[in-house]
Amino acid sequence: MNCSSFGKCGSCVLWQMPYEEQLKMKSGQLIELFSEFDMPGLEVVHGSDEHFRARAEFRVWHEGDKSYYAMRKRKEDGRGVIPIEECKIVDKAIYEVMTPLLNEIEKNDNLRFKLYEIDFLSNSKGELIVTLIYHRKVDETIAEDIQKLKDKFKNIDFIVRKKGRKYVFDKNYLIEELNINSKIYKYKIIENTFSQPNRQMNQKMIEWAMRNSEDLRGDLVELYCGNGNFTIPLSERFNRVIATEISKESIEAATYNAEINERGNITFLAMSAAEFSKLYKDKSPLITKYDLKNVLIDPPRAGLDDKSREFVNEFDNIIYISCNPETLKRDLQTLSKGREIKAFAFFDQFPYTNHAECGVILQKR
Ligand SMILES: C[S@@+](CC[C@H](N)C(=O)[O-])C[C@H]1O[C@@H](n2cnc3c(N)ncnc32)[C@H](O)[C@@H]1O
Repeated sequence: MNCSSFGKCGSCVLWQMPYEEQLKMKSGQLIELFSEFDMPGLEVVHGSDEHFRARAEFRVWHEGDKSYYAMRKRKEDGRGVIPIEECKIVDKAIYEVMTPLLNEIEKNDNLRFKLYEIDFLSNSKGELIVTLIYHRKVDETIAEDIQKLKDKFKNIDFIVRKKGRKYVFDKNYLIEELNINSKIYKYKIIENTFSQPNRQMNQKMIEWAMRNSEDLRGDLVELYCGNGNFTIPLSERFNRVIATEISKESIEAATYNAEINERGNITFLAMSAAEFSKLYKDKSPLITKYDLKNVLIDPPRAGLDDKSREFVNEFDNIIYISCNPETLKRDLQTLSKGREIKAFAFFDQFPYTNHAECGVILQKR
């Protein structure tokens, strides 16, 4: 991939390295990092190295009559942001609309004044949610100007945000379609809630989790379930599923997603992983009615807190999806005791960056 922002933008730090070399380097680093464990061979899973991000956030840089998208500078160039002409890692639908959209905004003083950030969320059909974030008072009178944008960009719903206030034109969600093992699953994705950034890799991660849970039986407990991304397809492998997540909006989407995909064996609960773990400790019938053999976890970068790690350690079989190899390593120091590590995968969700997403399957010896 080549991008005119390479070498200026602080996002793609590995811009000078051919993609194959990036994969080799990151795989080598992971093998080294996990060398204290008895790991199986690392499965390297990757997709396209361009137009792979289904969501992206850009600052806006105003200079005279012109406005530009801006990204944070490279570390070696100091603090702050720098204007960019293009971003090749974003989804094709986002890429194609970025410049024409900003050109329209530029022509309209009300839309342009103190516009601070533009966020994009896309689905596989090329529909978008665009969020305009302002550093000034905004009220409903902006609706007329947004309508002009909507007339030009028929595939976009707009959200206008100013600290503490939000105006939605006309909806704040997209319906995403994922192809998992040649079956289509539908997902409501609500703006400003977590969704996997790389659609192609997300599909491959879910397929990997399904393949590696083929032999598992009984019920599944899931922590950090988001909008039911893994839950919905995986629920086909298990009798009953209980899935939890801290964000109420994500649980609302997950519940809707179970309905539209006709999955009747899932219970979703909005609560933190630590709260759910406490329910187990207190022998709440909400949990004890499930057989606690299989657990799926996909925590944020901080990994598991102490209480949740203790809870997860009760299970025979663990499917661990991680976006931070360092906290995964820390958690495996507890979870690998008495368990065999059956599978280890590196999903390259974030080409041109040092980030690595991993999957690990653990089974009781
Ligand atoms: C990496 S995302 C994974 C979401 C989902 N598994 C997916 O694939 O889209 C982590 C999720 O954990 C949730 N979360 C963050 N802190 C949490 C906590 N303390 N307890 C439960 N959920 C939490 C976030 O809201 C987010 O949806």
